[in-house]
Amino acid sequence: MHFPCWCILFAHLYTFAAVTISDHISVEDQLLAEGASSGRRTGRLYCRVGIGFHLQIHPDGRVNGSHEPSHLSVLELFAISQGVVGIRGAFSRRFLAMNKRGRLHAVEEFTDDCKFHERFQDSSYNTYSSVMHRNHRTGREWFVALNKRGKAKMGSSPRVKSQHASTHFLPRFNLQNRAQWGFNIMDKSQKSQNTPQPAAPKAPPPMVKAESGKKRTETVKYWPKFRFG
Ligand SMILES: *[C@@H]1O[C@H](CO)[C@@H](O)[C@H](O)[C@H]1NC(C)=O
Repeated sequence: MHFPCWCILFAHLYTFAAVTISDHISVEDQLLAEGASSGRRTGRLYCRVGIGFHLQIHPDGRVNGSHEPSHLSVLELFAISQGVVGIRGAFSRRFLAMNKRGRLHAVEEFTDDCKFHERFQDSSYNTYSSVMHRNHRTGREWFVALNKRGKAKMGSSPRVKSQHASTHFLPRFNLQNRAQWGFNIMDKSQKSQNTPQPAAPKAPPPMVKAESGKKRTETVKYWPKFRFG
């Protein structure tokens, strides 16, 4: 009989996958939930170069990309002024910075090196260029960029241009919002029914569910301009 064997095998694989995924996302979800409750823009920046990489900030200050999302790629974006943002690793608590040679790294103290112009490129991708540093002779801007293997590129490299995929980042900052829509819809239309939504692998963490819905929605709806103090 083949059927039961397949069933057991599948069940094992499924359990394994479920455990792996839940272990994998718990830290991330915690960071994302913390960000949402604090009113910060918390999510990821996905660069479309090569196979696609999430910008990640390591606790030792290194910066690179990872195809798979992880806790290191959970980032906080906050507005400094019109069109100017700071980017912080939610796990490392370090700020993305570009130094005067155009090298990307992450620092503990926020400085002018950590300020980036955020611009809409095309098809919902953004670019991030250093506010402080650029090519002094030509005025050419220096962009945050990853190469095809997910390594950070020098912003000062003549090949790093805003037309290139290496500088294009898709902001993925709506994970918490989506979780809350789900919650609110259930709250309004299915008050009597207690059936939970089909559990996606990236289900909202219990913390979000436990919160009372209405206040949270208002806070999320109008993202406050985050001032750096
Ligand atoms: C990113 O950096 C980490 C730590 O230095 C390293 O282990 C990882 O392989 C790097 N990833 C890529 C795509 O270069």
